[in-house]
Amino acid sequence: MKGIIMAGGSGSRLKPLTGVLSKQLLPVYNKPMIYYPLSVLMLAGIRDILLISSPHHLHLFRALLGDGSRLGLRLDYAEQEHPGGIAEAFLIGADHIGDDAVTLVLGDNLFHGPGFSAMLRDRAGRLDGCTIFGYPVRDPQRYGVAEVDDAGRLVSIEEKPRRPRSDLAVTGLYMYDNDVVGIARGLTPSARGELEITDINQVYMDRGRAELLRLGRGFVWLDTGTHDALLEAGQYVQILEQRQSVRIACVEEIAYRMGFIGTGQLLRLGREHADTDYGTYLVDLAERATDGRRVPDVPPPDLVADPTGLPSLAAPAPGS
Ligand code: G1P
Repeated sequence: MKGIIMAGGSGSRLKPLTGVLSKQLLPVYNKPMIYYPLSVLMLAGIRDILLISSPHHLHLFRALLGDGSRLGLRLDYAEQEHPGGIAEAFLIGADHIGDDAVTLVLGDNLFHGPGFSAMLRDRAGRLDGCTIFGYPVRDPQRYGVAEVDDAGRLVSIEEKPRRPRSDLAVTGLYMYDNDVVGIARGLTPSARGELEITDINQVYMDRGRAELLRLGRGFVWLDTGTHDALLEAGQYVQILEQRQSVRIACVEEIAYRMGFIGTGQLLRLGREHADTDYGTYLVDLAERATDGRRVPDVPPPDLVADPTGLPSLAAPAPGS
């Protein structure tokens, strides 16, 4: 499974914040927004990731994340010259996808919930066609909206309908088999001149190969598309991190817990941010791990997900 993060767009709804900066690099509390969708792909076990952004901003992402090797990832970068729609990701990323399946995540979406990592890895492991993720919201007309029948089958998807047929928003996280590249090649631009992700989902639905997974109560999906939404997302992260003394979308920790990097690298990364709580947290994690409660560098595949959705620190390695 390959990964793509779509971090393009003009950020017009967040001006003047986005006057010179990419929207997906704005802070959500203590980390750049892009860490949140990146962490989703990592939690799905995906290490080979393409980041797509506008020609003005691509170098900034590269400066922040490099080739990904520090996190045990392989990161590539590609330009979207004009905002041509989310589905253009599969044309720009065709070579990156190759013969594989792909998970696409939008660079401004924030997900957090119990058992998320296990759920993602489970879905990725038995993908048949496409899997989209629905989330009930108060204002569905702002999003793609899905309708499911009594048996839970997907019966309609509409992009920002004026009269939504349900309250189920289609979130910015999508898993597709390799057909997606051919489907994207056959799309025509919508009235707003974009290749719509909703049209891709529609094709899968018409073929009877689309599954909608409902993210239920207790799960959090936030978008960061307005000034208020951005601030609220930051406040959500701040409240949880301070209350529980955990980190959300801490990519260094996730790289470690997923077995992409070892304790030594975690320690090095922590020391780079030594002046901050963020760095101290990573150093503590590395020190605790070397202090008798060590997690293996390569965890077993059946890692138990703890309530944060991450493999448990206390999960013992067989034979370790
Ligand atoms: C896009 C998709 C929409 C989806 C949303 C999720 O909308 O077109 O279907 O519900 O992302 O964030 P946009 O944010 O580009 O308006």
